[in-house]
Amino acid sequence: NASREPIGVIGTGYVGLVTATGFAELGSDVICVDIDADKIARLKQGEIPIYEPGLADLVAKNRERMTFTTDLSEALERARLLFVAVGTPPTYSGDADLSAVQAVVDAMPASDRHALVMKSTVPVGTGANIKRVFTEQGKDGFRYVSCPEFLKEGTAVADFLKPDRVVIGDDGDWAGDAVADLYRPLLTAEHGGQGSGELVRMDIASAEMVKLASNAFLATKISFINEIANVCEETGADVLEVAKGMGLDDRIGPKFLKPGIGFGGSCFPKDVSALKQLAGNSGYHFQLLNAVIEVNELQKRRVISKLQKHLGSLVGKKIALLGLAFKPDTDDMREASSLVLSARLQADGALITAYDPIAEEEARRLIKGVDFASSALECVQGADAVVLVTEWSEFGDLDWAQVAAAMAGTLVVDGRNALDAAAVAGAGLKYEGVGRGTLASFAR
Ligand code: UDX
Repeated sequence: NASREPIGVIGTGYVGLVTATGFAELGSDVICVDIDADKIARLKQGEIPIYEPGLADLVAKNRERMTFTTDLSEALERARLLFVAVGTPPTYSGDADLSAVQAVVDAMPASDRHALVMKSTVPVGTGANIKRVFTEQGKDGFRYVSCPEFLKEGTAVADFLKPDRVVIGDDGDWAGDAVADLYRPLLTAEHGGQGSGELVRMDIASAEMVKLASNAFLATKISFINEIANVCEETGADVLEVAKGMGLDDRIGPKFLKPGIGFGGSCFPKDVSALKQLAGNSGYHFQLLNAVIEVNELQKRRVISKLQKHLGSLVGKKIALLGLAFKPDTDDMREASSLVLSARLQADGALITAYDPIAEEEARRLIKGVDFASSALECVQGADAVVLVTEWSEFGDLDWAQVAAAMAGTLVVDGRNALDAAAVAGAGLKYEGVGRGTLASFAR
């Protein structure tokens, strides 16, 4: 790898660590800064605090180019570009909490050699506000670039190395050019890039909006197909066939048309409500997003109705939850549908046993009063019903005859349409998917 300019990355969460490692892989020295001393100590010892496929190997491979420190001055000394990847979690009002971003801004010295490159998802107008603060603080020379992040958890490393697009919002100065230069190799055949991604430059506010609008659109697509699935259940159509037919129209596309028990994660719920609040704060009522959020809430609760339809009252019923993370291949439990589902089930008096191959530790912190099993088969032992919550691939390989023998009841609710319905039914179990018509039509 050609030697490239050193960069600083502030914040070593999912986005920060993947971005830092990705740029190290491209040949940059990267100084990773975090206020969490414990995390930095673990990173120094080669421990990766998150589960993200391929990340540990890539960190190990590029270890020499990566520095982990709690000392911001080390990054300021060596790097011009300081990527900001700190958390912007939702507040009670649904607005983004920008206190971590604000702390970074305040910690910057007066300089005409540095730029902040914002990776954290922030409301439109944040860049303008930060530039105003820099001016007030006598730091006018500090440049600002918005470079929103489109990484997906579980495939974040691959997404970094093969982006569809790189969006840069800047004031047309050296900093925007420097960020563009850093990303350019990923858009060509060099460094394993696909050569098909596009780099677009625009003003800062528009770049900020691209991120929020993209996530809100994808969330809308999911809520839309969830509603189609619900209508399919009423009318006997199979949403899998419907989505296949719809997705062949290249204006619609096949992706994000999988119905399930609602979207979760660190981005969609937060960004949809942040965009809704942003619109509201500026005087515009974003009606569509209200529906997207409400459908998503109701979708999590539909599993309860399905269980009640077959089992009647859930008091004392043993329910096995397979998968807890907000999606497969991550240990992230943020806004996971399993949180709402388990709370609702407990409120209805059900007894829950749960299993997740990776997220158990995090789940134990967040979900109380639940028994945790160490395998799927142990989880379904004595269960009146099994609910597939997160579609980890190992659940696709379950031996349904064995499951049927272990269960006390016969109901399998497939919250993600991820199971082989015929195999489940073949083992004498009742299969209930999402939007797949009636059980009777299934037995056909
Ligand atoms: C998302 C965006 O995809 C990414 O570009 C952005 O940077 C961060 O937010 P992520 O949260 O990692 O990424 O997960 P994603 O794979 O997009 O899934 C989000 C949620 O939607 C999950 O809970 C998933 O189960 C759900 N989902 C996704 C569906 O229910 N149906 C679908 O068809 C797709």
